[in-house]
Amino acid sequence: MGEEPERLGKSSAESKDPGDENHVSEDPAGVKYYSLEEVQTHNMSKDTWLIIHDKVYDITRFLEEHPGGEEVLLEQAGADATESFEDVGHSTDAREMLQQYYIGELHMDDRKKESKKDVYITTSKESSSWSTWLIPAVAAAVVGVMYRYYMLEHKSS
Ligand code: HEM
Repeated sequence: MGEEPERLGKSSAESKDPGDENHVSEDPAGVKYYSLEEVQTHNMSKDTWLIIHDKVYDITRFLEEHPGGEEVLLEQAGADATESFEDVGHSTDAREMLQQYYIGELHMDDRKKESKKDVYITTSKESSSWSTWLIPAVAAAVVGVMYRYYMLEHKSS
């Protein structure tokens, strides 16, 4: 009844129309980039897209299969569900399932500045590997010294 074939018409045209760059663009490797605005239009149970880690998924046919129920997915429809997806602590199986529904990437301009966070995490990892290396080294040196003293005492008695 109230369905708008208008929008469907638009989305089938967009893949062909290179002039519609604000919504969809394709790089030479054939990867599609969708704008946030475009993703937001797919927010109904008959047409559901999600963004997870800057990737766009069409999960319309997955709604009924989702072990966590379709409601939680519909709450996030047309939006970035990264946080809620991670909050649940989905299994690796669940992460692999994502690939089946992958349709493209979120446009660079619409991404949150997550890459900066990644750099930060990498840096802190580096410093923690430093300490994991340093602490055993110091401990080994202390044990070495103690062992020497022990052997010396042992010999003299
Ligand atoms: C397309 C994206 C998603 C896929 C492929 C997916 C897949 C799955 C799978 C396979 C499970 C079973 C448990 C596991 O293997 O981890 C699950 C459980 C669940 N998912 Fe998702 N999920 C998706 C998105 C979401 C989102 C966006 C939310 C939250 C808003 C969510 C909430 C839940 C909840 C609440 C459970 C139930 C956990 C439990 O009962 O232990 N899922 N999902």
